Amino acid sequence: MSAAPVIAIDGPSAAGKGTVAEEVARTLGFHYLDSGALYRLVALAAAREGIDAGDEAKLAAIAARLPARFEGEDIYLEAERVTDAIRSEENSFAASRVAALPAVRRALLDRQRSFRNPPGLVAEGRDMASIVFPDAALKVFLTASPEARAERRYKQLKEKGIAATLAALLQDLRERDARDAARSVAPLKQSPGARLLDTTAMSAAQAANLVVDWYRGANR
Ligand code: DC
Repeated sequence: MSAAPVIAIDGPSAAGKGTVAEEVARTLGFHYLDSGALYRLVALAAAREGIDAGDEAKLAAIAARLPARFEGEDIYLEAERVTDAIRSEENSFAASRVAALPAVRRALLDRQRSFRNPPGLVAEGRDMASIVFPDAALKVFLTASPEARAERRYKQLKEKGIAATLAALLQDLRERDARDAARSVAPLKQSPGARLLDTTAMSAAQAANLVVDWYRGANR
């Protein structure tokens, strides 16, 4: 029996991968993996246990036994709902440090692959196409200009009543991109065979429709 098909969507932060991937999964009736949430959970669990964000062995041990659950829109660490806590600025920064550690990435591989179940999976992150699901049926590199991404993040934060300035967000995004692209393991880059989807002048719904069309076109 062949494995369930995977649509791999990679790209920088705040490009709209999550919204697009969820919409594609809904349209096709596929499962959905937000791989970034796993790195965020490791960072949060480490902070809760007082483990330093540079202690590779201890962090890999946490990643291997991560007591996390995804329930619909909600994410739990043990019994605690951490859906919002993993997205704080502080934890985002810690997650990007944790994600640079090879032992942590290795420890999360099987867990990510366990999301691959019939009828299929939409997986989003940074290394879905290159490392986790190299045999994906469709690979998409989804991006947008830094300015468009900062603008989207700004609107999201404003809706939640969180204060922010566009200039600071733009600088933060540029720094995080540089860190994610420069690291030696699984750096952020468009992998060979991935189709480029620049959503700078596109809505999330338009981008999702395009991905679904590509997938159906490739499987006709
Ligand atoms: O997509 P995100 O912003 O929630 O990801 C959180 C951090 O984890 C970010 O610094 C990039 C990193 N990450 C990664 O290295 N590999 C993935 N597959 C997903 C996320």
